[in-house]
Amino acid sequence: MILIDGKKIADDIKAELKATVEAHKTKTGKAPGLTVIIVGDNPASQVYVRNKAKSCVEIGMNSDVIELPNTISQTELLDKIHVLNRDTSVHGILVQQPLPKHIDDFAVTLAIAPEKDVDGFHPENVGRLMIGRLDECFISCTPFGVVELFKRYKISTSGKHCVVVGRSNIVGKPMANLMVQKLDFMNSTVTICHSSTPDISVFTRQADILIAAIGKANFITAEMVKAGAVVMDVGINRVEDKTAKSGARLVGDVHFESVSKIASAITPVPGGVGPMTIAMLLSNTLKSFERTLN
Ligand code: GUN
Repeated sequence: MILIDGKKIADDIKAELKATVEAHKTKTGKAPGLTVIIVGDNPASQVYVRNKAKSCVEIGMNSDVIELPNTISQTELLDKIHVLNRDTSVHGILVQQPLPKHIDDFAVTLAIAPEKDVDGFHPENVGRLMIGRLDECFISCTPFGVVELFKRYKISTSGKHCVVVGRSNIVGKPMANLMVQKLDFMNSTVTICHSSTPDISVFTRQADILIAAIGKANFITAEMVKAGAVVMDVGINRVEDKTAKSGARLVGDVHFESVSKIASAITPVPGGVGPMTIAMLLSNTLKSFERTLN
């Protein structure tokens, strides 16, 4: 059984990106810049945003975090985005989700210039991904990170049955759209299951590649997995754990203890897919910067 070390691969990618960023700085005197907007005081979002900013600095990119109060109006937020769209020192713009209820997520997504949408959420980027123009779009960071793990571990996916559990716009749908593309480390037969699929295990048991992104702790158990399957766990769920110092710990959507006994390869949580998300965000930001050089 191969334990897929996403932390190590993410560190390798960050080292590669750092070398490239340094070469650009030497040659042009310029560095890529990522601006992250966070609205309100969601504790999980604060941790994610801090980690994104820290990772930027580690690899020599410019990072800016704009903290806005919960009470900000949608118009004010959109105005801030329009300013960033015009700022040539900003190559990536990311608005951390979730947003307060009075703000329309989709209006925010549409406001970000597609060429700075390093999250890959804008319909222009989603559409380009769907029609296979992968070099001309930004790909949502978590699904992109999963494909990068297939590449770096040389896991063959071509002609395999890939079952994606979950249909979110951030993970499930772009994940399935990637895996169906006629490219190396994709090129799979793809099935999407979700919360309204009756008897999900009928499908998951047929998976050569199983990607869990449904947001339910320990949802995928050993009985739902074919022996020898490759299992990618995108879930990050906080569960109570009285033995932990904080009273809680993180688990994936996959019941790791049982599934790791039958899978041929599996990602742990934490330390699997999670660290890859930030690595791919940095990679997207560098790509955005490089496009401005030509
Ligand atoms: N919230 C949770 N994941 C993400 C992400 O990938 N991008 C943004 N913008 N918000 C998120």
